[in-house]
Amino acid sequence: MVSWIKNFAALFTGKPATVLSGEAPQAIKLLCSRRSCRSFSDEPLREEEIQSILEAGRFAPSTVNLQTWTFITFSREQWHETFDRPIPFKGAFAITICADNFRLKNLLPDLQDTPFVNLSLAIFNAGLAAMSMNLAAEALGIRSIMLSETARAGLLDSAFLREKLKLPEKVLPLTTLVLGRSGIKLPGIPPRQPLDAVVMPAHYNKDAGALLGDWYKQMFLGYKLTHPLSSFDRQIAIYRKKMTDAEAVVKGMFYKI
Ligand SMILES: Cc1cc2nc3c(=O)[nH]c(=O)nc-3n(C[C@H](O)[C@H](O)[C@H](O)COP(=O)(O)O)c2cc1C
Repeated sequence: MVSWIKNFAALFTGKPATVLSGEAPQAIKLLCSRRSCRSFSDEPLREEEIQSILEAGRFAPSTVNLQTWTFITFSREQWHETFDRPIPFKGAFAITICADNFRLKNLLPDLQDTPFVNLSLAIFNAGLAAMSMNLAAEALGIRSIMLSETARAGLLDSAFLREKLKLPEKVLPLTTLVLGRSGIKLPGIPPRQPLDAVVMPAHYNKDAGALLGDWYKQMFLGYKLTHPLSSFDRQIAIYRKKMTDAEAVVKGMFYKI
């Protein structure tokens, strides 16, 4: 009982240490205060804001500077035309970030002999670009969320997105970054796993899983607070089902089963 009370309290107090220390540089404050937003206002984004965000993505680092990503952009109207509904959470602009091994295939045909390494690196590179755009948005005071499952906007619906966005082979949609402004105060920070479970000096600690008990309880409690009619395990079950369906699609894209 005491541990549940402690974990309930932790939901409201678990802030990043660097922000608490006060004098942290602005960039670190930005990194630690970034939050996913699930409710946007009607206010549009300015064209130069959108361009700054996209440029932050284009200038992200990548392995051998191969830039194995593509950003498919949507205004509200374009999203509606494509999906016949508003941008998720009524966002003002959306960017679907894809790992892309298609654009380079004629220039560097040899790289195609290692599809899994190629795919892993492309996903990693595209993830960095996604985060660069996310942080550029934060720096501009624009709220955001990345989606991989909600509203069929990411990896878990890759077959659907490939058809809707006319993606060629070797282009994998990873996530949609939804952008906009929000008048609402964002809810509490979702609990993070403890530092000593995540940071491992010098070698891997195989017992780190045993340090996750409190975090797991906090996820249950936090989920119940924000979704009283559902539960964390129910959400995980839905997620697992979608993952199983997506598994076959993603496998089929990269090697013949
Ligand atoms: C690649 C990626 C995909 C995500 N997909 C979803 C999603 O489909 N639906 C959703 O509500 N949140 C999604 N999220 C947001 C996470 O739930 C969120 O980042 C996490 O709970 C931590 O909260 P915070 O971003 O506010 O710190 C996604 C985040 C990432 C990085």
